[in-house]
Parts: sequence; C-alpha cells; structure tokens
Amino acid sequence: MSQPRPITIFDTTLRDGEQSPGASMNLAEKLEMAAALADLRVDVIEAGFPIASPGDFESVRAIADAVRGVQVCGLARCNDADIDRAADALTEAEAPRIHVFLATSAIHREFKLKMDKEEIIQRAIAGVQRARNRCDNIEFSPEDAARTEPDFLCQVVEAAIAAGATTVNIPDTVGYATPTHMGRVIKTLVDRVPNIDRAVISVHCHDDLGMAVANSLAGVENGAGQIECTINGIGERAGNCSLEEVVMALRTRNDYYQATTRIDATRLVPTSRLLSSITGMEVQRNKAIVGRNAFAHESGIHQDGMLKEPTTYEIMRPEDVGFTKTDLVLGKHSGRAALADRLKALGHPVEGETLNVVFAAFKKLADKKKEIYDADLVALVEKRAGVA
Ligand code: KIV
Ligand code: ZN
Repeated sequence: MSQPRPITIFDTTLRDGEQSPGASMNLAEKLEMAAALADLRVDVIEAGFPIASPGDFESVRAIADAVRGVQVCGLARCNDADIDRAADALTEAEAPRIHVFLATSAIHREFKLKMDKEEIIQRAIAGVQRARNRCDNIEFSPEDAARTEPDFLCQVVEAAIAAGATTVNIPDTVGYATPTHMGRVIKTLVDRVPNIDRAVISVHCHDDLGMAVANSLAGVENGAGQIECTINGIGERAGNCSLEEVVMALRTRNDYYQATTRIDATRLVPTSRLLSSITGMEVQRNKAIVGRNAFAHESGIHQDGMLKEPTTYEIMRPEDVGFTKTDLVLGKHSGRAALADRLKALGHPVEGETLNVVFAAFKKLADKKKEIYDADLVALVEKRAGVA
C-alpha cells in the first residue's frame, strides 16, 4: 500500500476566525490560542492581518516572536503597504509566510476593484514578487476563486506561481461551492496549469451552505495538499471549514483519502474549549467531534450495543479526540443494561427482581425529568432497599 499523502493544516482561527462577529481576542488571548495551536501541531498559524490595525500588527509580531515549531503567516492585500507591513510583523518568526490575496471573480473585478483581467494579473505578479523579496514562503489567494471563470483562474494561478508563489490557495470566499464544484475547480488547475507542480494547492472553504468540510475534502481528493480551517469552524458569516471535523474525517476515512496530518487529535477538545472560553462562543451540543453530545448515547438499543462492543455505534474513540470517555446518558430512552451498568459503577450493583423494580421507578422518573443524575439513581436504589 502506498504511503499516506501529508496534508498541511493551515489554521486561520486568529485571522479569518477572528473576523467572525463576537470572536475578537486581545493580545494575551491570541498568544494563549497560538500556543495551543502549536501544541495541537498545526503546520501554519495565520496570526492576523497586520495592516488592519496597530493591534493586529502587534499580535502577529508577538506570535512570530513567541511561537516556535510552526510557520507563522500574516495576510496582505496585493499592494506595497500591506505586504511591507506583513513582512515587518514577521521579522522574528522562525518560519514566516506572507499570504497575499487579490479578488479574481467578475463580480469582484467589476464592482469592488474596478480592474480588468490584465490589470489583475499584473497586480498579482507585482504583489507576489514584492512579497518574495522579503520572504521565501509566499501564499497567493485569488479571492472568490470558486466563482471565477476557470480559464482566467488558471491564468492567474500560473502567473502567481511563475512570480514565486509557493502555495496557491483556492478560496470559496462566499461558501457557494458544492463538493462536485470544488473538486472540479481543483482538478482543472491540476490538469491545465503547466507549472502547478511548483506550488502546493490549498483549499479555503466557507460554510454558507454548510459544505465547507465536504468541499475541502473534495479539494484533497482532487490534489489539494493544504486545508485552511479554524477551530470550531468560526469565521466570517457561517464560518470556515472546521479543523476538528476535517482532520478527523481524513483520519477516520484514511482508507479512502489515504492522507495524513500532523495534528495531535487528543488536543482537539481542549483547544475547542479554550477558544470557547476565550470568545464566549459555545459550540452546539451536537457539534461533530467536540460537542458535548458527540460521544453521548441515550437510546437503550445504542447503549446496549455500546456496552457489548463500542464500535457498534462509535466510529471514533472519545479518547482519540480528547474526551475522557463515552457518555451513556440515562433518560427515558435508556434501557436496563445501561442502568445496571451505571448502578454498578456507583457501588450499587442490582440484578434480578430488584433491577426490575428500580428500572420501572427509573422510567417513571425519566418521563418527568429531562436529565437523570447519579444522585437520583442512588435515591431509587436506597428507596427500594428501605434505606431512605
Ligand atoms: O475567504 C477568503 O477569500 C479569504 C481570503 C483572504 C483567503 O479569507
Ligand atoms: Zn476566508
């Protein structure tokens, strides 16, 4: 069997993620988050947009100074002032990367930039060359690539690589793509851009239609070697591709993708919780991988299966992503096996007729209460034994 293909994980929690309403972070919080991302073993931290504000410049500079063992990246529009400011913020980085972007779609060319195709190509070349004079590691993004005419996208990407871009990132800026669409965009670049082998292709997907993770995976299937993502999927509007979801999809379905990342998955839950505590943005209970219910089972049939063999109802182990254990929640859908198991763990083993009576009392209580606590169970057993 061939070796799994390494996929670069480019985390943009501190840049695109921070652009999400309600997610702004101060310098100390960004430094704490950057250290957690380094512990998670992401390959690249996009630390901010240095021209955006003095605070953003300072946080990119401080992260570049403090964090080791990971590339640190600063964002810049395709103009001299932005690029110089990003390069200045990154001077102390162990492995700096400048990320230059310029919109390419007809809508952005006409209404936002008021530039024609030739001007876009010339501006992209000039921007990449200027960045390349300050740093060897240059990422170029044709913003709104997913809505750009394929022929023109190929021309821009070819020109950016010829000018020195080492990564070409393909953003679905407005979350418009579907997996088939995104896969086709990446395949077109692989098939038609003559110098594509000189750069890593990256995907940067937004979640407006809820498909950012699926679209990123379609990109990988068609040749992308880098995924841009954020913790908890935070980001502009509906957010970005969720790091924890895309990493665990690659890992769990390695049979299919044959791709690997450096991520220490056991850090996923702690990192997700750190971000929630810093921003105050809680993840929903049923969020894949890191939500409170991601490894919780309430139905009797599922609990019985789980007690017999966990792989009956779990495709990942909770410990793999940083939870301590599976949660067999006792509620009105639960069965006798899970109740007996929990009572045994609480030091009250019951069986036979006692279990039948306690189980009947438990079902009555569960119809009245949403959640049954351990103390409720102990009270039921003690009542049966005549203790209480
Ligand atoms: O969504 C987007 O297009 C971006 C670019 C700056 C890469 O965030
Ligand atoms: Zn984005």
